[in-house]
Order: sequence, then C-alpha cells, then structure tokens
Amino acid sequence: MERADLQLAVAHYRELAPRYDHFTRRINRIRKRAIDALQLQPGQVVLDAGCGTGWCLSRLAERIGPGGTIIGFDPSPEMLAVAHSRLPESAVRSLQLIEASAESVRLPAPVDAILFSYTHDLIRSRTALENVLRQAKPGARVAATSTKLYAPWLFPANWYLRVSHRGYITNFDSFEAPWSLLATYLDDFEVRTGPLTQHYVATGRVRPLAPQAA
Ligand SMILES: C[S@@+](CC[C@H](N)C(=O)[O-])C[C@H]1O[C@@H](n2cnc3c(N)ncnc32)[C@H](O)[C@@H]1O
Repeated sequence: MERADLQLAVAHYRELAPRYDHFTRRINRIRKRAIDALQLQPGQVVLDAGCGTGWCLSRLAERIGPGGTIIGFDPSPEMLAVAHSRLPESAVRSLQLIEASAESVRLPAPVDAILFSYTHDLIRSRTALENVLRQAKPGARVAATSTKLYAPWLFPANWYLRVSHRGYITNFDSFEAPWSLLATYLDDFEVRTGPLTQHYVATGRVRPLAPQAA
C-alpha cells in the first residue's frame, strides 16, 4: 500500500490555496451531493474533515442552522486562512477550525456527521480514519466524495486523471475504488458511482471501534 506524504501535501496546498476555489469550481455540484447525502438535521454537530478553503462550510451551515456546530480541520495554514474568511460566525452556534492533520487532530466535541470532501490521502490512511472515526458518536453519518479512475479500458482518461491530480493527491493507492478502506469502518455502507464517471459519493454510519490499547 502506498503512503500519503503529509509534508508534500502541505507544500502543494501552500501554492494552491489562493486559486484553489477557482481550479475546483467544476466539482461544486458533487460536493453538494455529498453534503445532501449526510442528511443533516438542525442543531447537529458536523465535522468537515480536511476542510481546505472551506467551500462546504456555508452549505453545511444551511443544513444545521444557527443551533448547529461545525468543526473543520486541515493541516494547511494557507487553506485554513481562506476558510476562516468564509463563514460569518453567527451562521452557526459554534464554528471551530483547527490546524491539524487527520492523524493527530483532537476534536472539541463528539460529532453527529462527518464529511470527507475530496480528501483521498486522508481516507486511504488507517491511522487517519481511526483517529477521526473514534471521535464520532456511534452511528454518526459519514459521506465521502472525491475522484476515482474510470473503467480500465478508458486508460487515456485514467492517465489524464493521474497526471492532473498530482497536485491534490500524494497517495494514489486504490484510485480505482478509493472508498474501500472507509467501507470497512462503516455500517449501512453504500457507494454511488459507475464505470463511466470519475466521481463517487460513499455513505454509511460509524461502527464503534474497539478501545485503543494504552
Ligand atoms: C482537495 S483538498 C479538499 C478540500 C475541501 N474538503 C474541499 O472539498 O474542497 C484536500 C485537503 O486535504 C488536506 N489534507 C491532506 N492531507 C491531510 C491529512 N492527512 N489530514 C487532514 N487533511 C489533509 C489538504 O491540506 C487539503 O486542504
């Protein structure tokens, strides 16, 4: 299994941050699909894991309303700086953006729902997933979306996907089925995708993990 390179990701996103929203504008509708799939309720606590520039924050706030809480984390200070300027604090009861990786983050509260929006490196790491999922309420709803390879016979398109995503992903492990590791941690797991699309939305509910050895 390949390993993600956190330092390389932080370096890439330092450069990308000022133009990231413009470069990724074509995936906004897919991000919205993943947010819809979370089936959020007013007043809930939602986590935006690897929140980046925070494009999803205001859409999450619309769903949970002024009584809800959003927690976001990202290891890139430059991406987080954009996220901080994004959402008026009054939109929700509490908005907390934390500079941290998924492997090390400590959340201030257990969460009802988790969004992984275009966080391939993160969902291919057992350490990252277990650290985040342990801090969710049992049964918390999860939605993950990102890019995946097309069917193998579309190899020129797949070559293009790999090349064009080098700035965004440092670990192309299981790029044909990026949800496969996440699926092992969730109940009611479902994935919506197909051989002729580069998009997927995977959903499920957090299955309680065994306590960590001391
Ligand atoms: C493609 S961006 C997605 C940002 C945002 N979720 C979106 O939908 O636009 C990937 C983000 O994951 C963050 N990231 C990379 N490795 C990470 C890790 N190990 N833990 C948490 N975030 C990570 C990057 O800093 C970057 O902001």
